[in-house]
Amino acid sequence: MSQVETTDRVAQGVIGDLFADIHDELASVEQRLQEELRSQHPSVDQVVRHGYRLGGKRLRPALLLLAGKACGELTESHATLAVVVEMIHTATLVHDDVLDEAAIRRHVDTVNARWGNETSVLLGDFLFSHAFYLASTLSTTDACRMIGQSTNRLCEGEMRQTLAEGDLLISEEDYFGIISAKTAELCACCCELGAKYAGADSDRTEALALFGRNLGIAFQIADDLLDISGEEATTGKSLGRDLAKGKLTLPLIHARDTLVDGPRNRLLAQIKQGDESLSKEILATLRELGSLDYARRTAEQFAAKAAEQLDRLPESAAKATLELMAEFVVARSA
Ligand code: IPE
Ligand code: IPE
Ligand code: MG
Ligand code: MG
Repeated sequence: MSQVETTDRVAQGVIGDLFADIHDELASVEQRLQEELRSQHPSVDQVVRHGYRLGGKRLRPALLLLAGKACGELTESHATLAVVVEMIHTATLVHDDVLDEAAIRRHVDTVNARWGNETSVLLGDFLFSHAFYLASTLSTTDACRMIGQSTNRLCEGEMRQTLAEGDLLISEEDYFGIISAKTAELCACCCELGAKYAGADSDRTEALALFGRNLGIAFQIADDLLDISGEEATTGKSLGRDLAKGKLTLPLIHARDTLVDGPRNRLLAQIKQGDESLSKEILATLRELGSLDYARRTAEQFAAKAAEQLDRLPESAAKATLELMAEFVVARSA
């Protein structure tokens, strides 16, 4: 497929073609996940296997592998770390679905919907601990330290967000702080790990870490837009949870700060009610005020900032794919 056709498909949010160059490596990640996520106890085995069922976009392993390829040769460590970061990510999703009281994830029932919150907490712990066990099998402790620090910041971001639920006056600055921690941190870590384990120098490693951070922020803004105006059948997960939980994301913050007096109070009252029947009305307000466009433009700016970092890398097929990924995370519909 030509580069132009690929770009068109990226604009439509199609991910499959994008990862053609790392197809075999990603297939190994899938296989390894299936091998690792097992239990000898049949009841536990069912829950643990649910951890990889149908899979997700595998964006984080892809980032790690592409960052590695953009800097040199992939190693056995990359193969292990790609599995580790997907396990960490899945653990955060399992816990996040408890926080959001979500029913659907990756087109199937959430663990909390099928087995309850208690099992979800334990499966999340199982995935976290298994990921660190695997990371500890590498010959150096660098990866464990980096992933430990990133996961810690990710949890801090999720806690900040939970503690800010219902805060109708949350600032844009706080919003960016939260998404940088809960989402961009792990994306940055994946890119940094990929570069480091390919023997990249400090300049290229830093460029890739910054690429991952800015891409992660763009990714979460797009995710927050999908939560408001996406399709559940396409995303395969419960949407509208941000509003239901009183989490103000970028479009709502923009609308709140654009309106004054009565209309502003009306919007805040609607958000406070957290009633799903009001979400259509809120969506209409956001459209009218250009708040969805504002958030999309902001996501595009972060994606462009991510792509700029790639100028510090030599030309390669992996670099070209990373460039497309920055476009994809904003254009995606799932
Ligand atoms: C969802 O991440 C959680 C966020 C950080 C918004 P993904 O959209 O990458 O989820 P999967 O892995 O593809 O299911
Ligand atoms: C969660 O963000 C990010 C994580 C760290 C898991 P969201 O709550 O927006 O993710 P989704 O929409 O449930 O996938
Ligand atoms: Mg969620
Ligand atoms: Mg979301």
